[in-house]
Amino acid sequence: MKFFIDTANLEQIEQAQNMGILDGVTTNPSLMAKEGIKGKEQIMQRYKDICNIVDGPVSAEVFATDYDGMIKEGEELAAIDPKITVKLPCTKDGIRAVKYFKSKNIATNCTLIFSVGQALLAAKAGATFVSPFVGRLDDICEDGISLVGDIVKVFRTYGLKTQVLAASIRHTNHILKCLQVGADVATCPLKAIEGLLNHPLTDKGLDIFIKDAAKMQ
Ligand code: G3P
Repeated sequence: MKFFIDTANLEQIEQAQNMGILDGVTTNPSLMAKEGIKGKEQIMQRYKDICNIVDGPVSAEVFATDYDGMIKEGEELAAIDPKITVKLPCTKDGIRAVKYFKSKNIATNCTLIFSVGQALLAAKAGATFVSPFVGRLDDICEDGISLVGDIVKVFRTYGLKTQVLAASIRHTNHILKCLQVGADVATCPLKAIEGLLNHPLTDKGLDIFIKDAAKMQ
C-alpha cells in the first residue's frame, strides 16, 4: 500500500519525505485554507513547492463545480508540474471532467466518494484514483473501511485499473484496517503515519540496549 500525506503543510510534507516513506501528497480546499494560503498566485506557488519536495503524485483540487470551470482550472493545475493529479468532485460534471482529462493523459483523483456506485462511475470514466472518505462515514455511524473494501473487491472483480485511495484517515488504526481490505493507497495525517512506529517494547528494548552499550564505553 502506498502512503500519501494529506496536508498542504510544507514542513509536514518534508518530514514525511525525510522519513523515506512518502509516495505522494493529497490536498483539498480546506487543507489549503488551513495554511493561510490566499489567491491564485499563492495557491499555484504552494503546489510548485509541494512538487519540489515529493517524488510522487500531488493531488490538486479544482474549486470550480461546473464542467467548463473544472476543465480550465484542471488544465492550469496540470501545467504546474507533471506530478500534479487533478482532483475532481464525484458529481455529473466531475465525472465528465475525469473522462476529459483521461483523454488528455492527465491523472485524476475523483474525490468525495461515499458509495460503490460513485466509485464505479469514476473508474469507468478513467479516474487514476478514487477517494472514499473513511472518517466522514465513521462520523455518521457508517463503516468507512467496509466501503474501501467493497470498492477494492468490485475493481478487482472487473479488472478496473483505478486505484483505491482511502481518504479522511483520522488515526493509525484506520491505516492498518486499510491494509487489511487491500487499499492501493492511504492518504493520512503525519501523526497517523508516525503512530505506526509506536510500541512500548521497542522503547523498553532500546532503553536496555542504551544502558548495556554504556557499560562498554
Ligand atoms: O482526504 C480527505 C480529507 O482531507 C478529509 O478529511 O478529516 O476532513 O474528513 P476529514
